Amino acid sequence: VTRTIAILTGGGDCPGLNAAIRAVTRVAYDTYGWNVVGFLDGFEGLIQQRYRVLQPSDVRGILRIGGTILGASNRTSPFSYVAPGTTEPIDASEIARESLRSVGADALIVIGGDGTLSLAQRFGGDMIPIVGIPKTIDNDVRGTEFSIGFDTCVETVTDAIDKLHTTAESHHRVMLLEVMGRTAGWVALYAGVAGGADIALIPERAYNIESLIAVVERRRAAGKHFTIAAVSEGASRPGGEPMYRSKVGESHAWRLGGICEHLAIELGQHTRREVRALTLGHLQRGGTPTPTDRVLATTLAHAAVRALKADHGGVMAGVSGSSTTLVSLDLVAQGPRNVPLDHELIQAAEAIGMYVG
Ligand code: F6P
Repeated sequence: VTRTIAILTGGGDCPGLNAAIRAVTRVAYDTYGWNVVGFLDGFEGLIQQRYRVLQPSDVRGILRIGGTILGASNRTSPFSYVAPGTTEPIDASEIARESLRSVGADALIVIGGDGTLSLAQRFGGDMIPIVGIPKTIDNDVRGTEFSIGFDTCVETVTDAIDKLHTTAESHHRVMLLEVMGRTAGWVALYAGVAGGADIALIPERAYNIESLIAVVERRRAAGKHFTIAAVSEGASRPGGEPMYRSKVGESHAWRLGGICEHLAIELGQHTRREVRALTLGHLQRGGTPTPTDRVLATTLAHAAVRALKADHGGVMAGVSGSSTTLVSLDLVAQGPRNVPLDHELIQAAEAIGMYVG
């Protein structure tokens, strides 16, 4: 039977989304003979009935391109939607479901992070089969060890640390690199280790300024006159709050940032070293996906379409070990996946002399 499946990309973009869209389209069309409709700008396009039909010819050449050809919206919820020209949020979930029916779609694939996938779970309920595909540079989706976009982000941050090394060493400076990740420290930990940083600050563990000063002093005593730190935007001190650039809307939407500029002043005063702060920002979400992210996107997309073929719904295709698995969206909706404090990479980092705070 010919089916029609819809697809959308929600939340912040990242490299590898197009690889997933391409694979979903090809598997659905070429393997099962199904039609694919791509809704534009995440849930916003679903509510506003903006979409395009996707055929294999529409996804040609997009494998290596970052971002998403479907567009994404970061803050649109079908349950609390503010229509253009209005100010009051409405529940637009039935409008969005009607939009799916109007294109003849009997299932929806949602490519998103934990926020979008939680919305998807609520949106589908018992009525519409939904299958999720995890993507986020933060790597904090529950139910999967890796999400699309993380590997490319780690490569970008590692490259930045490599480049900071030479100038830090030439000028005998302390360099603080602020990286993304929201409440999870995966990016700082992985890129910190990969780039040979001396310090990685992650939100899961409170850091204290005395320990940072001690690292700089210890290195100086050993004849190493520079220090490099990979700092999660969400890191904080014992009992403290992370630093926010703005607090607009619900707390999960508040914009983190600013910790390194703040730390640079304090560390400079205490160590009498020159300290510089750099925020990598949205560069971390750009660029061409690494081969690892392309392969991940392709295998997860394949697993997602296969799940629909087997009449599954309310699940996400995730990674466990070296295979894909299906996990319940109920699990995904339980909130972000943080770095466990007994994670082997923290132990390895400390064993090679890094300070992980
Ligand atoms: O979740 C992905 C992410 O890039 C976070 O790491 C970061 O805190 C946030 O999105 C930035 O959001 P925006 O693109 O809205 O500034």
